[in-house]
Formats: sequence, C-alpha cells, structure tokens
Amino acid sequence: MKTLVLTAHTDLGNSRINRTWFNALSEADSVTTRDLTAVGGAEMLFDIEAEQALLLAHDRIVFQFPFYWYSAPAVLKAWTDQVLSYGFAHGPGGDALEGHEFLILVSTGGPADSYHAGGYNSYSMDEFLKPFQQTANLTGMVYLRPFVFHGMALATDEQIEESIPAMLAHLTDPELDPRVKKARLLKLLEGDAAKTAENSLTMSTSAAPT
Ligand SMILES: Cc1cc2nc3c(=O)[nH]c(=O)nc-3n(C[C@H](O)[C@H](O)[C@H](O)COP(=O)(O)O)c2cc1C
Repeated sequence: MKTLVLTAHTDLGNSRINRTWFNALSEADSVTTRDLTAVGGAEMLFDIEAEQALLLAHDRIVFQFPFYWYSAPAVLKAWTDQVLSYGFAHGPGGDALEGHEFLILVSTGGPADSYHAGGYNSYSMDEFLKPFQQTANLTGMVYLRPFVFHGMALATDEQIEESIPAMLAHLTDPELDPRVKKARLLKLLEGDAAKTAENSLTMSTSAAPT
C-alpha cells in the first residue's frame, strides 16, 4: 500500500508536532511526504497535472495539518480547489479517485475534553471534519478514522515523541478501511455463533436421557 501525505502548515520549520510527524513519515516505507507550502509557494499555485498524477500513484491519501480556526490552513484549501477538479475528482467522468482511501492527521491546541458537547469547543472532531468526510464521499474515496492529537497548547516534548509510533501505526494500518473491520467482526461473530450452536448441541446431547 502506497501512502501520500500532503502536509499543510504555515511554518513547518517552527512547528512542534507536525514537523516531528513529517520527519518520521518521510523515513517510513511506502510513504511519500509533500510539504504543500513549499510546493505551492507564496501564491499557493499548484501544477495540477503533477498533483493529480501523485494522487493516482498512491492508495491512501492523507491530509496532515494543525487545526486552525476549526479547519485546515489555507494552503490545503487552495490545493483542494485546484487539484480535485471537475472531470477528475467529481462531475461527469470524474471518478479518478474512486476507491482510494482518505485519512486526516491533525493536531489541536485545545484538549480532548473541549471537543465534546458541553466542552468549550462544543463539537466533536468528527463534526468539525465533516466537510473533509463529504469531500471523500463525493470523490468516491473511503473515509478512514482520523488520527487526532489533542492538547498541543500544553503538550510536552515527551508526549509529542510518544505520539510517533501510534501515529505511524495508524497511518499504515491496512485494516483501517471500515468495510475490512466490519467483515472481520462478522467472521468472528459467525465463528462464535457456530461455536454456540455446537456447544448447545453437545450440551443437549450430553443432557439427553440415556
Ligand atoms: C491561526 C491559528 C488558529 C488556531 N486554531 C485552533 C483551533 O481552532 N482549535 C484548536 O484546538 N487549536 C487551534 N490552534 C492551535 C494549533 O492547532 C496548534 O498550535 C497546532 O496544532 C500545533 O501544531 P504544530 O506544533 O505543528 O505547529 C490554532 C493556532 C493558530 C496559529
């Protein structure tokens, strides 16, 4: 499985967690990293054909960013507007991304308990990330469970370092596809049901009067 990580940060050089993740991902097998701010430049202009060719060459597409005003930094919107074009990613004949996987990798300043009803950010990350989820839906990509690191405002260097293995395991987990997980669960349940049926048969046989 080949993974493309599109990183959107206004100042990756001075980032704490996204730079750490970017560096770790750059060394991982079968992962291509791309710093969109460096690629798009100050004007945030992209070579659309080159970006689309990269998307086609990878199975799993990752948007990586720090959460800015409940969304992503502007460069990711510029990239999306230009690259996920009509006729390529949507509209008539626009099925190029059908079946690719799509995953969000994001860090927030606010703590996890603020991203709940009743917390000071009121809504969950799943709610804030809906536009990305629907972008995946419309373009025929499979939306995978996001990886979220909360609490950057107070995070220690140690906590950031400790997030690396979990982040890498999540991003490279081949079973993140919800259909694969569901199929495995069903298989287990079928196995359990068969065992229960077998057990009840054994029990009723052994309980039968001799
Ligand atoms: C312009 C701006 C907007 C931000 N908006 C939010 C926000 O809406 N919610 C939040 O939890 N943190 C917010 N933050 C905090 C960042 O998410 C946090 O600093 C970032 O995840 C740290 O990542 P980095 O170390 O890679 O820079 C914001 C920060 C900036 C600079």
